Amino acid sequence: MSTKTAHQSSATHNWRFGTAPGGLPLIGHAVLMGRRPLEFLASLPAHGDLVELRLGPSRAYLPCHPELVQQVLLNARTYDTGGPVKEKARPILGNGLITSDWADHRRQRRLVQPAFHPARMPTYAEVMQREAAGESLSWEAGEAIDVSNAMQALTARVTARALFSTEIASHAVAEIQHCLPIIVHGAYRQALDPTGLLAKLPLAANRRFDEARTRLHRLINQIVEDYRAEGGDRGDLLSALLGAEDPETGGSLDDQEIHDQVMTLLLAGIETTASALAWSFHLLGRNPEVEAALHAELDEVLDGRSPVYADVPRLEYTQRVFTETLRLYPPAWLYTRTTTEATELAGRQLPPRSDILISPYVLHHNAALFKDPESFDPDRWVPERAKDVTRGCYLPFGAGSRKCIGDVFGMTEATLALAAIAARWRLRPVPDTTIRPRPHMSLSAGPLPMVPQPR
Ligand code: HEM
Repeated sequence: MSTKTAHQSSATHNWRFGTAPGGLPLIGHAVLMGRRPLEFLASLPAHGDLVELRLGPSRAYLPCHPELVQQVLLNARTYDTGGPVKEKARPILGNGLITSDWADHRRQRRLVQPAFHPARMPTYAEVMQREAAGESLSWEAGEAIDVSNAMQALTARVTARALFSTEIASHAVAEIQHCLPIIVHGAYRQALDPTGLLAKLPLAANRRFDEARTRLHRLINQIVEDYRAEGGDRGDLLSALLGAEDPETGGSLDDQEIHDQVMTLLLAGIETTASALAWSFHLLGRNPEVEAALHAELDEVLDGRSPVYADVPRLEYTQRVFTETLRLYPPAWLYTRTTTEATELAGRQLPPRSDILISPYVLHHNAALFKDPESFDPDRWVPERAKDVTRGCYLPFGAGSRKCIGDVFGMTEATLALAAIAARWRLRPVPDTTIRPRPHMSLSAGPLPMVPQPR
């Protein structure tokens, strides 16, 4: 599963540098990236350890070798978040963990990290187990549901109620469910627009986007104001943000910063977990032997009751199913870094402001790194086999100082959701439906009709 070269030091490595094939005059690889980005990107490791591509007039670099990816992700000062995508995300996310630059990010991370302290997880897990059980009880046998929609609604409820535990949560859930998909879709459209003009046109889609953004901003501001007025720690994420104190400076987050972190958590936490959960059910529906192994574990551990937080460590196969789903369909399939200074990568001189593309999808589907990479094999994650996976080959949550802050939250939420639903239902694919990955803001399955059959 591992490559020998991944262990060699960067200095001694004879790196291969390549240029992506198929570039056209002026637009370069923009069409290939626009039409078939997964296939195109996954073909690039054959052309080098570091591959240059052209997106219109600008160049971007894709590190395909895990050691180069690590060099980028573990050196956040030289490879900062940046580039056009970040600029477009700023009006939506403000200055939160995802959009802040290196120096401010360190301060922000110190302030937000306590909200994800393991001691707070049991309270969040209560929300997760209640919502997962509620979702699985709401389905009717034989009535097709869109699993992608159902998972999106479930993770929106979980995230909103983990953020805000007061009565306001029900109103907030409805607003978030209405506004967030419009914002995510609008942000994606704008991110694809190289001219920046699309957002300024008087289009109905732009009006809907602006209205949704204003509604969500207003809702968050109102909730923050209420919490400030009442004080106290309710055990939820928002209380933790409000009570945060920087251990180095004694500073805290002001209202605008709290607002931006809440928007960031909503945008980063809901779609990602939902997409991967939907893919898990898709994969289970097409891999009966994996489904049978999952059911065996659930029957043994749960014996007919709904899963609770204390079960999570024993739901080992359930976790492996989700881990393997994240390998095949990493929700954060592509993200970017920009060099803040001249630097060298794979022996190549990169000027300041060079765009670097990081793609977990490319790593996870590389046959040199994972044996039989297209097969859905949760048991590749049993400890004896997982130890052979080279460091840096499996990156669904990223790495380094910007590694996903919600990784444990997301894994716990997904484990409880998978367990609660699969303990009760078998989800059957609807015949003649073709499901293809949609590489948008996250790697979603699109509409995913499946029929629940009681077990
Ligand atoms: C399966 C679910 C999830 C996946 C695959 C995922 C993936 C990722 C990845 C790859 C990054 C790093 C991006 C980069 O380096 O530029 C990230 C960052 C982040 N994620 Fe997640 N995420 C998931 C769930 C969550 C959840 C549930 C939350 C919150 C409740 C969350 C909040 C965040 C935040 C705030 C960041 C920015 C962290 C920072 O820069 O300090 N994520 N996520």
